[in-house]
Amino acid sequence: MPAWDDPKTVAANDPGRMLAALDGYVDDFLTSWKAGSRGPLKIPSPLRNVVISGLGGSGIVGSLAAELVRDSCAVPIVIVKDYDLPAFAGKDTLVICVSYSGNTEETLDVALQAKGKGCTLITISSGGRLQRVHGAHEQHISVPADRQPRAALPLMLGSLLGVLSGLKLTKHRLEPASERHVRSFHEGVKLSTSEQTNRAKRTARALVEKYPSWYAARPLVGVALRARHQINENSKMLARNDEVPECNHNDLVPWGETRDGARHWVGILRTASDPPQIARRLDFFIDLLERQRVTHEEFVADAPGVVGQVLQALVYVDYVSVYAALLRGVDPTPVPIIGQLKDLLAKHGRAPQLAKQIP
Ligand code: F6R
Repeated sequence: MPAWDDPKTVAANDPGRMLAALDGYVDDFLTSWKAGSRGPLKIPSPLRNVVISGLGGSGIVGSLAAELVRDSCAVPIVIVKDYDLPAFAGKDTLVICVSYSGNTEETLDVALQAKGKGCTLITISSGGRLQRVHGAHEQHISVPADRQPRAALPLMLGSLLGVLSGLKLTKHRLEPASERHVRSFHEGVKLSTSEQTNRAKRTARALVEKYPSWYAARPLVGVALRARHQINENSKMLARNDEVPECNHNDLVPWGETRDGARHWVGILRTASDPPQIARRLDFFIDLLERQRVTHEEFVADAPGVVGQVLQALVYVDYVSVYAALLRGVDPTPVPIIGQLKDLLAKHGRAPQLAKQIP
């Protein structure tokens, strides 16, 4: 019997209830979007640039949001996934720091530098020290503290997009028809939907114990990155990702020469509205993988509108990663090795100094 058909096996393999955390995907996203946009939010005038800082399960929301709003945002958005605020940041910069725990030292460091340079600071966390670092204005958005950071993606992405939309930095929203589409797709990948018709379970079975590579073009580049992270953390497997068209200028070469196609699994994330110049590249790649006998799968996010497409693809890859964990018999929730590194850093890293600066 497959690992997901027996409720007792599922409960035993998923004691942290990672699957249950995915249940409220669309509701969490929309509720936090509303809360994020409510404000009152203040930004510098004139606003010259935006920095979004965060790591891992929190950092990915910056990547996703920046990619999503790129076609409509009038100012540059720079993503920071380390300790340093870029030198250009100043009084005309909006810095948004996202950390689910609110205690990630890289993000705290950036927040303090932002405060020191007089940037406008908005923080998003479920608590921790981050909510106590205030910039020119006190602007903190709180999300519920009841899950693993990566399982809080819908809450944090919704909050961040809500902020960007409240500040008129994006015109995108999840239109009602798109919301209906994503909700219906979501039903089809839940545990209660059998493998025969459940796209995420089928993908998990195909990639498990292989070396998965995820590919996408804008607006799904961040989703391919998310897929890798989720396969790493939930399924505890190595994985990789790359982006089109850039990877057509380098990564394409080994696929043309591969001698160990059976070891790999390739996932291609597309949208129903990919422009022809992108679709042609993806079709070429798929033909190549067929010739090289590499197992591959296309996933087409077909929700109307770009926000719905991103959300639909996120729902898909998140479920795939938890189903792969169930198939492997590993608990998707704990990531003890990340905890061990954080414990070490808490004693010897920047954390002790930061703790003094943010009581
Ligand atoms: C854990 C996870 C990690 C954390 C990262 C940063 O579920 O996904 O990648 O997100 O270690 O921690 P936070 O999100 O608390 O800033």
